[in-house]
Amino acid sequence: MKPINRRSFSQLASLAAVGMAWPGGDLLAAPDAAAKRTEQRGFAKGFLWGSATASYQVEGAVHEDGRGTSIWDTFSHTPGKTFHGDTGDVATDSYHRYGEDIALMKAIGLRGCRFSIAWPRIFPNGAGQPNQRGIDHYRRFAEALREAGIEPFCTLYHWDLPQVQQDKGGWQNRATAQAFADYAGYTAGKLGDVIENWMTMNEMRSFIEIGYGRGEHAPGLKLGRKDLAQARHHAVLGHGLAVQAIRAAAPGAKVGSAESCDSVIPAFNAAEHIAAARKAFVEENAAYLTVMHTGRYTEGYLAKLGADAPVFTPEELKTIATPTDFQGLNIYSGAYVRAAASDSGYDILSKPASYPHMASPWIHIAPEALYWGPRFAAEELRIRNIYVTENGCSSADTVAADGEVYDTDRVMYLQAYLTQLQRGVQEGVPVRGYFLWSLLDNYEWADGYSKRFGITYVDFATQKRTLKLSAKFYRNTIAQQVL
Ligand code: GCO
Repeated sequence: MKPINRRSFSQLASLAAVGMAWPGGDLLAAPDAAAKRTEQRGFAKGFLWGSATASYQVEGAVHEDGRGTSIWDTFSHTPGKTFHGDTGDVATDSYHRYGEDIALMKAIGLRGCRFSIAWPRIFPNGAGQPNQRGIDHYRRFAEALREAGIEPFCTLYHWDLPQVQQDKGGWQNRATAQAFADYAGYTAGKLGDVIENWMTMNEMRSFIEIGYGRGEHAPGLKLGRKDLAQARHHAVLGHGLAVQAIRAAAPGAKVGSAESCDSVIPAFNAAEHIAAARKAFVEENAAYLTVMHTGRYTEGYLAKLGADAPVFTPEELKTIATPTDFQGLNIYSGAYVRAAASDSGYDILSKPASYPHMASPWIHIAPEALYWGPRFAAEELRIRNIYVTENGCSSADTVAADGEVYDTDRVMYLQAYLTQLQRGVQEGVPVRGYFLWSLLDNYEWADGYSKRFGITYVDFATQKRTLKLSAKFYRNTIAQQVL
């Protein structure tokens, strides 16, 4: 069949929808079109646009300035653990090249930079004698950000646990929770005059379930249910203790965390599935976000674990739920949920093999996750200030003959997700900012350098940085504040 001329078809369809005669010319040129678009598809004034990185994934310089060994140094140097045996020994050399990275942030128009401090740079042995050269490095970095008009958002733990701490049991040992709080309080005390926004940890769910459960991340353990549940509890306890330590050491600090949010999406926009997704959001996040914001483990979580449930006290629950100023959500994909007559009241639907995903198979494309995730966090956990602390994707980026990187798939992904985020913002979901993962192609953990997540292409042989098409898309979105 001869294809209908798509442009005239869509114009006629939209005109029919509004009962308008086609006025001719460009719809978007209509006098109030720009104002209407900003009003309907804009972001709140002062919405903070940023990007995110993490110490072990970008810094390199692993033996420099007194840094101690982390579990990721040990794990990545263990044969067979990472793609090609890739390590973060050099990464994007951002320990030395952070000036170049800040120039990229400025060129894109970013107003926020999420980064992490490596615990082994501050306490090479996890505790004891602090390393002043570590503090000095992050002070220089934070000051350079502020001079560039970019707000530092600092994560204190993005998975690079000091190996000495792991030798004492790591997150299986309750003492690690206190050691983390001591490090957090010390660091915030030293840098609280140049860093105002602090996140305790990044993705407790990931470093516990993948590092201590599946053995696919450092320290590479496969704990049984009971030990894993107890390690989970020590991690969230460490978060709560650290919030208290940061507040004590840096009274003006704004404190939160960046947690992966098991973002559930109603199978479709029907009341019963939305209600089911609400239940799923609370239950699927029970061990992390839910306990951090309600001060209790759900009955469902404890029942599921039975005798393997963690040992805890009421005082510990209170500490875990120490009030914070904001919650960061890391959202890449989502699970579809339907109402069910089961005890839980919901079923999580599997995705067919044909379901579209990005270069990393786990990134199933589900833009509505960036609408429902923040909305459920606000409505079900009463969170009043949210940042999307990670969203982005890997793509099979290549450098074209003209030296450019035309990552149209990443632009498609970001456009779709940001449209859904903006839908929530317009409805009043309290999202205050968005940090794109990531500013740079970097060390993607066990995938090494095989997965590129940056909006800046990094030639790892020369460390040459090239803004991709997606960086220009992001710059345009920030400048226009409209998608
Ligand atoms: C995570 C980590 C990042 C990852 C990114 C892509 O969320 O797993 O915070 O360090 O690199 O998410 O996987």
